[in-house]
This record gives sequence, structure tokens and C-alpha cells, in this order.
Amino acid sequence: MRVSCTALVVLFGCGGTQTVPAATLGERQFSNSSLSTSPFNAASCSTCHQVAKSPLARNDPGYNLYNVVHRPALWGGYETRLIDAINYCMTEFMGGRALSPDEDSARELYEYLAANSPDAPSPLLPLTVVKNVTALTNLPGDKTHGKDVYDRSCRRCHGDPHTGNGRLSTKVSIIPEDTLAVFPTIARQVAVEKVRHGKFFNIGGIMPLYSIEVLSDQEIADILDYVGF
Ligand code: HEC
Ligand code: HEC
Repeated sequence: MRVSCTALVVLFGCGGTQTVPAATLGERQFSNSSLSTSPFNAASCSTCHQVAKSPLARNDPGYNLYNVVHRPALWGGYETRLIDAINYCMTEFMGGRALSPDEDSARELYEYLAANSPDAPSPLLPLTVVKNVTALTNLPGDKTHGKDVYDRSCRRCHGDPHTGNGRLSTKVSIIPEDTLAVFPTIARQVAVEKVRHGKFFNIGGIMPLYSIEVLSDQEIADILDYVGF
């Protein structure tokens, strides 16, 4: 059979080996949950971060990583090396082993982030963690706004409230039912703890935390009223 070069080029390229730029491979890694070595992980970097000059209207727990390679420090100043900031997410949220700076996937991720960092210098971004959490019962919520904020902040992982339809994996709780089943009297307080502290402050799990810069107390109260906490 004779196959023309024009047909072949679509499938394999024609005449010589084809190399995919490292930044393109890195963009794929960014959305690839298998970048983590954990068989239980369902999250990718893109579950919690965007990399965009004109970001979509999302309230991600992690910052937009556009220009990230020029920031003087990361994680509100707690991390100074990009690889450490990334590995903190990898080990705490994605259950994987830390990437070594010279392995292919780490280099590809770096090339992708560097290709999306045109402006230097770029400022350190603040990360204000709320330490003392209350159930926010003093803040009447707005359910309509709550739905909007839930859609931009929580739905990518939790899916629909009450059913969990569309959730990231079966490891993600169905809210509010799963919480009400275990903590019938303090579910609202537990929900605020999860949002403000994620897995930290001895709470456990794999959920990320939301700083004051990402969600205000009022927005959390709105979400809680919409979800039914
Ligand atoms: C479950 C959510 C989650 C996942 C998954 C995740 N991160 Fe993060 N990441 C965060 C949060 C929360 C922070 C702290 C807020 C911040 O500094 O952006 C953070 C911080 C960072 C920072 C520091 C940004 C800055 O300027 O402070 C970098 C860089 C980063 N993550 C890269 C990655 C990469 C690359 C991946 C994939 C390997 C990843 N993250 C996966 C939630 C996540
Ligand atoms: C990156 C994915 C992710 C995002 C985004 C996320 N969650 Fe979660 N959440 C989880 C996972 C996974 C669990 C179960 C494991 C754990 O406790 O960490 C959980 C657990 C919870 C629980 C505790 C349920 C229980 O009783 O066990 C509550 C409440 C909750 N999330 C609320 C929220 C709200 C509200 C938002 C948005 C502001 C949100 N989550 C955003 C992944 C996420």
C-alpha cells in the first residue's frame, strides 16, 4: 500500500522526529492528575490554580500562576524556591512524592510556567490564614450569591450539593449530608474549619485552605446558606 506523505504528516509528521516543546508538555502535566504517584489522587494543579493573563472567574484556593517565576517568594513568603512551593502542593494535596528539580516532569512544568511569566519583577502575593474560626452565625447569608461563589470555589471538587453529582472523585464528601451525619450539632462550624484551614491545624484530609484574599467571611456565610449548613 502506498500512503502519501500528506496523509502521514497528519499522523506522525513527515521526514524526521517530531519534538514537542517542553512548555507544551508542561501544560499537559499541569492538568494531569497522574503527575502524582498516589493511586488515590484525583486532583491536578489545574484543580486549584489557573495560569492565565485573563483568568476565568474562579475563586481558586491557589493563586493564578501567571508570572509566578518572577515572584520573590511563594506561599505568602513561607517558600522561597518554586520547586518547594510546588512540592508542598504535591505532597500535601496530591499525595505524591516530591518532584526532583531535574526530572523531566519538573522541567516541563517549569518551562510551562516560565513561558507564562513575561513580566518581571512580579510582586509577592499575600496569604492571610484565618486562625480563629467561628461558625459565622452572626452573618446572614445570601443564597443567590452563595450559589455563584460555590460554583466558582467548591463545585469543581464537590459537584452538586446534596448529591455530589459531578464531583472530582468519591473521596470528596457530599455536602452538607456527610458532615451532618458525623457532626449533627456542629456541622456549620466544621464546614468553616474545612474552608479556612483545609487539612491544616490538625484537621486532616486533603482539602486546601482558603485565605482571606480568596474568600471573605461573608462569602463563606453565603456558601453555607446556599449549601444548607
Ligand atoms: C488542592 C489544591 C491545590 C493543588 C492540587 C495544587 N495547589 Fe498549589 N497551592 C494551593 C494553595 C492553597 C496554595 C497557597 C496559596 C498560594 O500561594 O497560591 C498554593 C500555592 C502554590 C504556589 C505558590 C504561589 C504563590 O505565588 O504564592 C505554587 C507555585 C503552586 N501552588 C504550584 C502548584 C503546582 C505546580 C501544582 C501541581 C503540581 C499545584 N500547585 C497543585 C493549592 C493547590
Ligand atoms: C481541591 C478540591 C476541593 C475543593 C476546591 C474544596 N473541597 Fe471541600 N473537600 C475536599 C475533599 C477531598 C474532602 C474530603 C477529604 C478531606 O476532608 O479533606 C472535602 C471535605 C469537605 C468538608 C467536610 C465534609 C465532612 O464532613 O467530611 C466540607 C464541609 C467541605 N469540604 C466544604 C467545602 C467548601 C464549602 C468548599 C468551597 C469553598 C470546598 N470544600 C472546596 C476537596 C475540596
